[in-house]
Amino acid sequence: MTYEKQLETIKQYSYSKMSSDTTGHNFDHIQRVIKTATRILKSESADPLITLAAAYLHDVADDKLVSNPAKLEAQIKDFLHSIDFTNEQITEVLFITHNMSFSKSLSTPPKLSLAGQIVQDSDRLDAIGAIGIIRAIYYGGAHAETIYDPDIQPRQVMNKAEYRDLSNETIINHFYEKLLKLTAMMNTPTAKKIAEQRHQYMLNFLDEFKGEWDAEK
Ligand code: ADP
Ligand code: NI
Repeated sequence: MTYEKQLETIKQYSYSKMSSDTTGHNFDHIQRVIKTATRILKSESADPLITLAAAYLHDVADDKLVSNPAKLEAQIKDFLHSIDFTNEQITEVLFITHNMSFSKSLSTPPKLSLAGQIVQDSDRLDAIGAIGIIRAIYYGGAHAETIYDPDIQPRQVMNKAEYRDLSNETIINHFYEKLLKLTAMMNTPTAKKIAEQRHQYMLNFLDEFKGEWDAEK
């Protein structure tokens, strides 16, 4: 199968798995990650097929979105086999999708390949800036989070279980617990540069939000 046909088939597979999500991981998120990864690939010498395949598939077997991630990983494996991926390529793609998430990075994540670093950067860039702000609000709404409570301090989340515990979570605290940390965590110079502007945009937003909250603006 040609490279173009492989990517087109992966795109359709990803669409069939992601299009019904309502927590901010819809296929439009996947398409933005693909666009950003394609942009970063221009300045990095990573394998484009591995990078884009992992970008399309990175949320398909995510344990916050599906109840049986191992089953989905097995399905992805069969699927990639069926479009002529070698065992080595499949292992590379699944290693990326399995290890790139923010919650993974809270413990001791294994080092990602350059392709993996690009997908991780692209996913993280979609969590910050204007898009990041709206996704946090969308996700927070979907999980019945409070918008803001000045008496609830941001948590120091140390592991995945704490990160996923939303019982005392506010949307604004999510900025301090994750979103404002992402810029310093970018892997590639291209992503760092894009992140800086988006980071500043979030700081301006938080400043405006708190000013309005206190009726000072
Ligand atoms: P990952 O898949 O890398 O672990 P997350 O699940 O942390 O990513 O993030 C997916 C999206 O949901 C991001 O836009 C993120 O900011 C948002 N999100 C995650 N947790 C929360 C939260 N507690 N409150 C608001 N938004 C959240
Ligand atoms: Ni994602």
